[in-house]
Amino acid sequence: MKAFVLNSYAHPSKLALAQDAPEPTPGPNEVIVEIYSAALNFFDILQAQGKYQSQPPFPFVLGAELAGRIAKHSPIPKGCPFKAGDRVFGQAQGCYAERVATDYRVLHPVPKGMSLDEAAGLYVTWPTSYEGLVGRAELKAGEWVLVTAGAGGVGLAAVQIAKALGAKVIATAGSPEKLEVCKRVGGADYAVDYTKEGWQKEVLKITKGKGVDVIYDPVGRIRESLKCISWKGRAIVVGFAGGEIEKLPLNLVLLKNISIVGLHWGAYEKFEPPHVPKVWKELFDLFESGRVKPINYDKVWKLEEVPAGLGSLEKRETWGKAVVRVREDDLDQKAKL
Ligand SMILES: NC(=O)c1ccc[n+]([C@@H]2O[C@H](COP(=O)([O-])OP(=O)(O)OC[C@H]3O[C@@H](n4cnc5c(N)ncnc54)[C@H](OP(=O)(O)O)[C@@H]3O)[C@@H](O)[C@H]2O)c1
Repeated sequence: MKAFVLNSYAHPSKLALAQDAPEPTPGPNEVIVEIYSAALNFFDILQAQGKYQSQPPFPFVLGAELAGRIAKHSPIPKGCPFKAGDRVFGQAQGCYAERVATDYRVLHPVPKGMSLDEAAGLYVTWPTSYEGLVGRAELKAGEWVLVTAGAGGVGLAAVQIAKALGAKVIATAGSPEKLEVCKRVGGADYAVDYTKEGWQKEVLKITKGKGVDVIYDPVGRIRESLKCISWKGRAIVVGFAGGEIEKLPLNLVLLKNISIVGLHWGAYEKFEPPHVPKVWKELFDLFESGRVKPINYDKVWKLEEVPAGLGSLEKRETWGKAVVRVREDDLDQKAKL
């Protein structure tokens, strides 16, 4: 099968698609998925270079998020709710390939009416933003939320979830196109250019001097955002897309009477497994009600174009979730449902 197999670390721009990679061999509890779409993630760029927290042994196939169908020849382990042909999305190491083997317990059925391109980027992004806002920030209707990098993958999900929960949303972004995406596509009430010196003053003006109740930050820009946090505000540490692990003087936390709260969604499966399906149930309800929807970047790459897609992600050009389409034959699926 075709796959991006790594035998040594390299920048993604140097990767080549193998035409005759070995087929995946499923272990216990695993099924084989025919991959239709795979999401591009910043951590793939790190993993390709050996710089990520999770590095599989060589040789390994790159890519971690997928949507597709249970393969015709897949084993169906005892307890697995899926059958051959079912549309699923989820996680697997090795998604930049035609097929992958993965534990059926990290797969979910594709919500009704959703295309496989849209479903490919749900698994990491949406529960992260939901748990960040609901579980960690305890966001309430009517509160002000600041989402930094509001046009990014987790950012656009956070903007929509906060709106669906009745909050008022100010998104920040780094280009006019992304500011427009935050408002027009994501539904943010306001969008502020955080590359401009003193952008926090605009946020204070919008909130009539009060500041925001919640900061949702996947970039590493909490310190500067604290200039516009409210009394008893909560700042959620989601990530460091800016490349630096931010450091914070704790006197600010004391003086402003605020909480700094971490979020590590991937660790819930280990430390709080019963909570994971609850978050998914609430997300499925939101998807099915139409109050939120996955948003993909308007360019979709082909499997052989993974290096170009990851390059675009690295250059900060994309917004929403960026995906590669591995197979073309499911495009009319949405219309058929
Ligand atoms: N805590 C968790 O459990 C968890 C779960 C999932 C993801 N994350 C983390 O959340 C972060 C964002 O993930 P994502 O999927 O939303 O990524 P993404 O789609 O690539 O978006 C990241 C955004 O960050 C902004 N940015 C600022 N400086 C940047 C830089 N130097 N390079 C690249 N982007 C930069 C960009 O927006 P502008 O151009 O508008 O500035 C970009 O659109 C990542 O660090 C990821 O690891 C954490």
